[in-house]
Amino acid sequence: MNEIKLEFEAVSENEALARVVAAAFIAGLNVTVDELEDVKTAVSEAVTNAIIHGYKECGGKVIMNAALKRESKDTCLLSVEICDTGVGIEDVEQAMQPMFTTGAENERSGMGFSFMEAFMDQVTVTSSLNMGTMVHMEKRLKGYDERQ
Ligand SMILES: Nc1ncnc2c1ncn2[C@@H]1O[C@H](COP(=O)(O)OP(=O)(O)OP(=O)(O)O)[C@@H](O)[C@H]1O
Ligand SMILES: [Mg+2]
Repeated sequence: MNEIKLEFEAVSENEALARVVAAAFIAGLNVTVDELEDVKTAVSEAVTNAIIHGYKECGGKVIMNAALKRESKDTCLLSVEICDTGVGIEDVEQAMQPMFTTGAENERSGMGFSFMEAFMDQVTVTSSLNMGTMVHMEKRLKGYDERQ
Protein backbone atom coordinates (compact mmCIF):
# COMPACT_ATOMS: atom_id res chain seq x y z
CA MET A 1 0.00 0.00 0.00
CA ASN A 2 1.27 3.44 -0.92
CA GLU A 3 -0.65 6.67 -0.36
CA ILE A 4 -0.23 10.35 -1.10
CA LYS A 5 -2.17 13.50 -0.36
CA LEU A 6 -1.76 16.70 -2.34
CA GLU A 7 -3.49 19.95 -1.44
CA PHE A 8 -3.40 22.83 -3.88
CA GLU A 9 -5.09 26.09 -4.77
CA ALA A 10 -7.99 25.87 -7.25
CA VAL A 11 -6.33 27.64 -10.16
CA SER A 12 -6.05 26.29 -13.69
CA GLU A 13 -2.24 26.13 -13.57
CA ASN A 14 -2.61 23.38 -10.98
CA GLU A 15 -4.51 21.06 -13.36
CA ALA A 16 -1.16 20.18 -14.90
CA LEU A 17 0.35 19.73 -11.45
CA ALA A 18 -2.33 17.22 -10.43
CA ARG A 19 -1.99 15.30 -13.73
CA VAL A 20 1.77 15.04 -13.41
CA VAL A 21 1.65 14.00 -9.75
CA ALA A 22 -0.91 11.28 -10.55
CA ALA A 23 1.27 10.05 -13.41
CA ALA A 24 4.40 10.09 -11.26
CA PHE A 25 2.57 8.19 -8.53
CA ILE A 26 2.02 5.18 -10.83
CA ALA A 27 5.28 5.52 -12.74
CA GLY A 28 6.84 2.61 -10.84
CA LEU A 29 4.30 0.18 -12.34
CA ASN A 30 4.43 -1.30 -15.81
CA VAL A 31 1.57 0.87 -17.03
CA THR A 32 1.02 1.38 -20.74
CA VAL A 33 1.07 4.84 -22.30
CA ASP A 34 -2.71 4.49 -22.77
CA GLU A 35 -3.33 3.68 -19.11
CA LEU A 36 -1.18 6.60 -18.06
CA GLU A 37 -3.11 8.93 -20.37
CA ASP A 38 -6.43 7.58 -19.05
CA VAL A 39 -5.49 8.39 -15.46
CA LYS A 40 -4.12 11.81 -16.35
CA THR A 41 -7.26 12.73 -18.32
CA ALA A 42 -9.63 11.55 -15.57
CA VAL A 43 -7.71 13.50 -12.91
CA SER A 44 -7.64 16.55 -15.11
CA GLU A 45 -11.42 16.46 -15.70
CA ALA A 46 -12.18 16.13 -11.98
CA VAL A 47 -9.76 18.91 -11.03
CA THR A 48 -11.14 21.21 -13.74
CA ASN A 49 -14.64 20.61 -12.40
CA ALA A 50 -13.56 21.50 -8.86
CA ILE A 51 -11.97 24.73 -10.08
CA ILE A 52 -14.67 25.95 -12.45
CA HIS A 53 -17.86 24.50 -11.00
CA GLY A 54 -17.03 23.83 -7.35
CA TYR A 55 -15.27 27.14 -6.73
CA LYS A 56 -16.67 29.10 -9.70
CA GLU A 57 -13.13 30.17 -10.55
CA CYS A 58 -12.87 32.15 -7.30
CA GLY A 59 -10.32 29.82 -5.75
CA GLY A 60 -10.34 27.48 -2.77
CA LYS A 61 -8.48 24.32 -1.86
CA VAL A 62 -8.54 21.10 -3.86
CA ILE A 63 -7.30 17.88 -2.28
CA MET A 64 -6.10 14.90 -4.26
CA ASN A 65 -5.68 11.63 -2.39
CA ALA A 66 -4.20 8.70 -4.26
CA ALA A 67 -3.60 5.14 -3.09
CA LEU A 68 -2.12 2.09 -4.72
CA LYS A 69 -2.94 -1.32 -3.28
CA ARG A 70 -1.49 -4.55 -4.51
CA GLU A 71 -4.34 -6.90 -5.40
CA SER A 72 -2.70 -9.99 -6.79
CA LYS A 73 0.63 -11.25 -8.05
CA ASP A 74 0.56 -8.88 -10.99
CA THR A 75 -2.24 -6.34 -10.52
CA CYS A 76 -2.88 -3.43 -8.27
CA LEU A 77 -5.74 -1.05 -7.67
CA LEU A 78 -5.28 2.67 -8.03
CA SER A 79 -7.75 4.90 -6.17
CA VAL A 80 -7.79 8.63 -6.73
CA GLU A 81 -10.04 11.09 -4.92
CA ILE A 82 -10.47 14.70 -5.92
CA CYS A 83 -12.22 16.74 -3.22
CA ASP A 84 -13.41 20.32 -3.05
CA THR A 85 -15.40 22.24 -0.47
CA GLY A 86 -17.23 24.30 -3.06
CA VAL A 87 -20.87 24.74 -4.01
CA GLY A 88 -21.68 21.04 -4.34
CA ILE A 89 -23.98 19.29 -6.83
CA GLU A 90 -27.74 19.30 -6.37
CA ASP A 91 -28.46 16.16 -8.41
CA VAL A 92 -25.43 13.93 -8.91
CA GLU A 93 -27.24 11.43 -11.14
CA GLN A 94 -28.28 14.21 -13.51
CA ALA A 95 -24.83 15.83 -13.43
CA MET A 96 -23.26 12.54 -14.52
CA GLN A 97 -25.49 12.15 -17.59
CA PRO A 98 -23.52 12.56 -20.83
CA MET A 99 -23.89 16.11 -22.15
CA PHE A 100 -25.49 17.50 -19.00
CA THR A 101 -23.82 20.80 -18.20
CA THR A 102 -24.53 23.94 -16.24
CA GLY A 103 -21.73 25.66 -18.16
CA ALA A 104 -23.20 25.76 -21.66
CA GLU A 105 -22.62 29.51 -21.94
CA ASN A 106 -18.93 28.89 -21.25
CA GLU A 107 -18.73 26.30 -24.00
CA ARG A 108 -18.70 23.34 -21.65
CA SER A 109 -19.87 20.15 -23.30
CA GLY A 110 -20.97 18.15 -20.26
CA MET A 111 -18.64 15.25 -21.04
CA GLY A 112 -16.24 15.42 -18.08
CA PHE A 113 -17.92 12.72 -15.97
CA SER A 114 -18.40 10.55 -19.08
CA PHE A 115 -14.65 10.72 -19.76
CA MET A 116 -13.89 9.84 -16.15
CA GLU A 117 -16.23 6.85 -16.39
CA ALA A 118 -14.78 5.77 -19.73
CA PHE A 119 -11.15 6.01 -18.63
CA MET A 120 -11.42 4.62 -15.10
CA ASP A 121 -13.05 1.34 -13.97
CA GLN A 122 -15.25 3.00 -11.38
CA VAL A 123 -16.33 6.54 -10.57
CA THR A 124 -18.35 7.44 -7.47
CA VAL A 125 -19.43 11.01 -6.79
CA THR A 126 -20.50 12.17 -3.35
CA SER A 127 -21.69 15.73 -3.00
CA SER A 128 -23.76 18.01 -0.78
CA LEU A 129 -24.91 21.50 -1.58
CA ASN A 130 -22.65 24.17 -0.08
CA MET A 131 -20.44 21.46 1.45
CA GLY A 132 -18.52 20.27 -1.57
CA THR A 133 -17.87 17.33 -3.83
CA MET A 134 -15.75 14.21 -3.72
CA VAL A 135 -15.01 12.23 -6.87
CA HIS A 136 -13.65 8.77 -6.08
CA MET A 137 -12.17 6.87 -9.02
CA GLU A 138 -10.61 3.44 -9.25
CA LYS A 139 -8.61 1.72 -11.93
CA ARG A 140 -7.05 -1.73 -11.94
CA LEU A 141 -3.55 -1.66 -13.32
CA LYS A 142 -1.20 -4.43 -14.36
CA GLY A 143 2.09 -4.70 -12.59
CA TYR A 144 3.00 -3.69 -9.11
CA ASP A 145 5.59 -1.61 -7.42
CA GLU A 146 8.21 -3.65 -5.56
CA ARG A 147 7.83 -1.26 -2.62
CA GLN A 148 4.20 -2.25 -1.97
N1 LIG B 1 -16.84 19.70 -8.35
C1 LIG B 1 -18.05 20.14 -8.76
N2 LIG B 1 -18.73 21.06 -8.03
C2 LIG B 1 -19.95 21.50 -8.44
N3 LIG B 1 -20.56 21.09 -9.57
C3 LIG B 1 -19.93 20.18 -10.33
C4 LIG B 1 -18.64 19.65 -9.98
N4 LIG B 1 -18.28 18.77 -10.93
C5 LIG B 1 -19.27 18.74 -11.83
N5 LIG B 1 -20.28 19.58 -11.48
C6 LIG B 1 -21.55 19.77 -12.22
O1 LIG B 1 -21.75 18.66 -13.08
C7 LIG B 1 -21.92 19.10 -14.42
C8 LIG B 1 -21.34 18.05 -15.36
O2 LIG B 1 -19.92 17.97 -15.23
P1 LIG B 1 -19.06 17.45 -16.47
O3 LIG B 1 -17.64 17.50 -16.12
O4 LIG B 1 -19.62 16.14 -16.93
O5 LIG B 1 -19.41 18.51 -17.61
P2 LIG B 1 -18.92 20.05 -17.71
O6 LIG B 1 -17.82 20.31 -16.75
O7 LIG B 1 -20.13 20.90 -17.60
O8 LIG B 1 -18.37 20.11 -19.20
P3 LIG B 1 -16.95 19.53 -19.71
O9 LIG B 1 -16.35 18.71 -18.59
O10 LIG B 1 -17.29 18.70 -20.91
O11 LIG B 1 -16.15 20.74 -20.04
C9 LIG B 1 -21.25 20.45 -14.48
O12 LIG B 1 -21.77 21.25 -15.53
C10 LIG B 1 -21.58 21.01 -13.09
O13 LIG B 1 -22.89 21.52 -13.05
MG1 LIG C 1 -16.18 19.06 -16.59
